[in-house]
Amino acid sequence: MTTRAVLAYSGGLDTSVAVRWMGEELGTEVVAVAVDVGQGGDFEAIRRRALAAGAVEAVVVDARAEYAEDFVTPALRANARYEGKYPLVSSLSRPLIVKHLVAAARKHGAGAVAHGCTGKGNDQVRFEVATGALAPDLEVLAPVRGWGLTREESIDYAERHGIPVTVTKASPYSIDQNLWGRTIECGILEDPWQSPPEEVYETTIPTATEACELVLGFDQGVPVSIDGRSLPLHELVEEVTRVVGSYGWGRIDMVENRRVGIKSREIYECPGSLALLMAHADLEDLTLERDLAHEKARLEPRYAELVYDGLWFSPLKAALDAFVDESQRHVSGEVRLRCEVPGRCIVAGRRSPVGLYDYDLATYEAADRFRHADAEGFVRLWGLGTRTWAARQGVPEAEA
Ligand code: ARG
Repeated sequence: MTTRAVLAYSGGLDTSVAVRWMGEELGTEVVAVAVDVGQGGDFEAIRRRALAAGAVEAVVVDARAEYAEDFVTPALRANARYEGKYPLVSSLSRPLIVKHLVAAARKHGAGAVAHGCTGKGNDQVRFEVATGALAPDLEVLAPVRGWGLTREESIDYAERHGIPVTVTKASPYSIDQNLWGRTIECGILEDPWQSPPEEVYETTIPTATEACELVLGFDQGVPVSIDGRSLPLHELVEEVTRVVGSYGWGRIDMVENRRVGIKSREIYECPGSLALLMAHADLEDLTLERDLAHEKARLEPRYAELVYDGLWFSPLKAALDAFVDESQRHVSGEVRLRCEVPGRCIVAGRRSPVGLYDYDLATYEAADRFRHADAEGFVRLWGLGTRTWAARQGVPEAEA
């Protein structure tokens, strides 16, 4: 049995109990690693809590900028939404957390990586598959999956062992949050017929009272500015989240297919990511040539599936990234987002110095460069096959 493990530590009940439990039941020393991917919270307090729970070492990694640049960016450029809806919030952060767990395992001489996921979810898949891809020699420990404690028993265990956890009025919901959005599961939400109670929402509470506009600047598919102000991506996403969320826009209520074969009811709050995905896709409409746009749209669902399924570090994902990179060379320009009360956010305009929209070609207003005579021959040849077929077949009866 491994004597030292690196644990993905959130500061919550399960991972706090896991620190002690791994020591007692598995004889494993625990190095707790908390990765800041924009979930908010007091990381110094989280670090102290890990040590109080019995960790031999507790490390905090501020990975917000890295998350934005290396994980959010490729997903945004790929317009990645699982089952056409979910912008992959949790799915995107797990491979980054694993990257830092593996680095910490190397640094602290650990032989295993541990996580606090249950056996019913996708996150265990992402942690373990990504660990296998980056460090096939490391063992994986999943204490929470193995111990079979109910929530009450965990609270009890924490109390008996003097583990400081702040479960006051135990929230019935399971929540995961990062820069790209917020996920809410469990409690009454497990009945897909029930409307989500307002209390589950946090980042999409409608408070705005008047309409506003945001001009988002993109450079090669990456958002770089708001109203002409350049911002690092993680700050830009935070700002868009704040503004768009204040209109109560950006909620998703869906029944989703988990990798492990379970259908689950999910509530997501993703004002920032959904607004940026909408703006990005709109700018692509203006800047991508037709065949490239259509082929990209065919690959996007596959890309989202790979990320969802824990295959961030995989050969197909790498190949698709190369395709997406190439596709984004000219996705530069500006998108004007308009937010209105209540609950509305739309693209109100777009422009690009390298756009393919040509007013002279598109307009019906005036004499132009379009050679109308070319259309006649083109359309005749385009329909030639159909005409030949119709002559052989005879015209279908219903139409004759
Ligand atoms: N269903 C979503 C996903 O699989 C959300 C998971 C949230 N994770 C959590 N530990 N609460 O990505």
